[in-house]
Amino acid sequence: MNFDLNKNKEVIALLGAGSMGTAIIRRFAAGRIILLGDISEKNLERTANELRYSGYTAETCVVNAMEKSSVEAFAEKAASLGDVKYFVDTAGASPNQSSPEHILKLDMVGTGYAVDAFGKVMAKGGAGLIVSSQTGYMFDIPYEVEAEILNTPAEKLMDIEYIKETGFQNSGSAYIIAKRVNHLQAQKAAATTWRERRARINTISPGIIVTPLAYDEFNAAGDAYQGMIDSSAAMRTGSSDEIAEAGAFLLGEHAGFINGTDLLIDGGVIAAIRTGQYKLTVR
Ligand SMILES: NC(=O)c1ccc[n+]([C@@H]2O[C@H](COP(=O)([O-])OP(=O)(O)OC[C@H]3O[C@@H](n4cnc5c(N)ncnc54)[C@H](O)[C@@H]3O)[C@@H](O)[C@H]2O)c1
Repeated sequence: MNFDLNKNKEVIALLGAGSMGTAIIRRFAAGRIILLGDISEKNLERTANELRYSGYTAETCVVNAMEKSSVEAFAEKAASLGDVKYFVDTAGASPNQSSPEHILKLDMVGTGYAVDAFGKVMAKGGAGLIVSSQTGYMFDIPYEVEAEILNTPAEKLMDIEYIKETGFQNSGSAYIIAKRVNHLQAQKAAATTWRERRARINTISPGIIVTPLAYDEFNAAGDAYQGMIDSSAAMRTGSSDEIAEAGAFLLGEHAGFINGTDLLIDGGVIAAIRTGQYKLTVR
């Protein structure tokens, strides 16, 4: 017999079924239809099975966040399952995992594709959440360049002179720029495409959260990470569950007046950098 375990047709789509994304889903998706998207089929199956055996309804879809058509097909699949009320994007790679080009294509352009694709399918009253990073606060992009970024479609972002000059210098700079652009992408969508659908969209900028991605960073740049942790007010790293708590708030109805903005959750690392308690070097 086929059991129908969930009559609710409200969909939550997650792009990037990794540590933080799954924590957000576990915190927020009970009673909803979950669509998991990831480039790794293995990740998808493992995460979907864990969720199914914990009482959630989960479907999967292989997606390459760097390919526009793949992201569009993912958004269409979400819409075919029911009303797309929530979208969470945590697909990303960190500086020590990838080249500048890969980071810019995935964390910056890919996020733009996702914001655009879901901007066509979000249900009225829905909400989106992009996981950016504290690094989006690590240096200031000139105001006129930010204005140019806001007026440039996702597929043309890599052609912006400033991004070609600064973003390709090293993976650290690429990551900082990509994550700052995420804040701008949410602002733009909140004011335009997502506004038209009466849906909200925000970003979260986590600090150092101990996930597999963070371990890759520790292994490659341990001293710098230790320095950030030691100089922060919290004097510790964060957990995916702490990000999930804030993510659930931003997605939920109590955050109905919060739109197009970023929530920095970093234990005080950026405060330490801005006040000179920690001296940043970008690799
Ligand atoms: N862990 C941290 O300390 C930290 C801090 C700040 C921001 N972030 C950001 O948070 C997000 C989530 O990170 P996490 O720590 O949960 O990492 P994670 O590695 O657990 O999750 C990332 C997921 O993205 C998927 N992915 C990678 N490339 C993809 C592609 N081309 N298409 C589709 N999926 C793809 C991976 O398979 C993985 O499941 C990332 O954007 C990361 O940059 C992480």
